[in-house]
Amino acid sequence: MRYYRYKYSVQVKQVLNDRCVKCHKYPNPKGGVLLQDYASVKTYVDNGKLALSVNQDPGAVAMPYMAPKMTDCKVRTILIWINNGAPNN
Ligand code: HEC
Repeated sequence: MRYYRYKYSVQVKQVLNDRCVKCHKYPNPKGGVLLQDYASVKTYVDNGKLALSVNQDPGAVAMPYMAPKMTDCKVRTILIWINNGAPNN
């Protein structure tokens, strides 16, 4: 899956800003999870929770919280970027 070149600064950030950051920002991030900047997001890439949560798979609390899974397009944007090594691009 190296064909699509999703960028953190463009597509990934747009999905997170649209669907996640309202709950995951200073000063009161839900669950203590910040998703406002690359370094914070990368923490949840590395521990596996970002992929599990957006795919609503067992092993993490399903996200967006108490809401239906995002569209396939948005979920895949995140998963493909992760599979490509989650670059800070
Ligand atoms: C309506 C508020 C809300 C929205 C929107 C939301 N979250 Fe969360 N998020 C939470 C809460 C609350 C928790 C803590 C849940 C718990 O520990 O039971 C959490 C926890 C998490 C965790 C940690 C999960 C774990 O199992 O440790 C991750 C990762 C996460 N959210 C990512 C996201 C992503 C990615 C999105 C957007 C697709 C998102 N969240 C949207 C409220 C939200």
